[in-house]
Amino acid sequence: MKNKIIILGIESSCDDSSASIVTSDKEILANIVISQNNEHSVYNGVVPEIAARSHMQNLDKAVTLALGQAKINLHQIDAIAATCGPGLIGGVIVGSMFAKGMASALKIPFIAVNHLEGHALTARLVSNIAYPYLLLLISGGHCQFVEIKDLGKYKILGQTLDDAVGEAFDKVAKMLYLPFPGGPQIEKRASIGNPKAYILPKPIINQPNCDMSFSGLKTAVKILIDTLQPLDENKSNDVAASFQYTIGEILKNKLTQAIKIYSKNNTNNIIVAAGGVAANKYLSSVLTEAALANGFKFVTLPIQLCTDNAAMIAYAGLERFNKNKFNDLNFCPRARWSLEEVK
Ligand code: KG4
Ligand code: ZN
Repeated sequence: MKNKIIILGIESSCDDSSASIVTSDKEILANIVISQNNEHSVYNGVVPEIAARSHMQNLDKAVTLALGQAKINLHQIDAIAATCGPGLIGGVIVGSMFAKGMASALKIPFIAVNHLEGHALTARLVSNIAYPYLLLLISGGHCQFVEIKDLGKYKILGQTLDDAVGEAFDKVAKMLYLPFPGGPQIEKRASIGNPKAYILPKPIINQPNCDMSFSGLKTAVKILIDTLQPLDENKSNDVAASFQYTIGEILKNKLTQAIKIYSKNNTNNIIVAAGGVAANKYLSSVLTEAALANGFKFVTLPIQLCTDNAAMIAYAGLERFNKNKFNDLNFCPRARWSLEEVK
């Protein structure tokens, strides 16, 4: 263990309080995620103030559990990496202050990690993927195609002009009275519904770029549901399936456009899907096919590393540690922080 670098990662940008310990051998010694679903489900969405207060209670526990599972003590940690944005600012402040306090007390480096960089680099933690590669980031807050050139060198090739794809899943789930969080619920219902039952719009699908738009689709689903009242279970499953099918068609088409743009400057034919929505097995299978048809390998991640977790933050921290990219304790947490602003 002595020759290895050990990084403690902290994640608190949304509603999961997470602590993880990752080594320079890319071993995940622990990845504790304390979900706040029960606290937010009564409101059918994440309440930022509740999330921040829960992180204050949970992070301590998550770190203690992670150290126990990894069988290490605090003094064996070489650096602490924490999500410093983008995200719900209350939670981001709690996590970054927690990490700064620990780093200061232990006299070890502090590393400010961009949450999206965590998602973007996870594929390098689980498989030996070399730079550059194409990333499809599909989460609750983001939906973008990014050229991952190297650590801290990211170019957004296209992105949603309005809602994130996970946000659309969550809102449609709410319209169908499905419990929070909605994405996995829609996937479950869609698997027993008819994906061709209703034809839904695919906004800006014919534009020759990889930008996306989901808010019109969401409104169309709302109008459809209003016309289907009273909504029985079969109709509800058909709406879920038709919605998920339409998202698949949009992403498939835009993935082909993104590949064209990426291939102008790159010959490494790898596309990685990351973020919570990448946990969706239907989308993953249609995107794998579309990637293959374009001569690309589609890399998926284990579900627990698609959704928010601190292993991805610890790993991004490890890559930064290896390049001596440390941060001062006066680093300001931020609610917005584009991947293109990461250095
Ligand atoms: O990456 P993530 O855990 O948090 C953010 O950084 O946003 O993504 C959460 C999003 C939520 O919108 C959730 O509904 C969606 O990912 N999600 C899914 C699935 N699992 C999680 N969406 C569709 N199908 C799933 N199986
Ligand atoms: Zn995320």
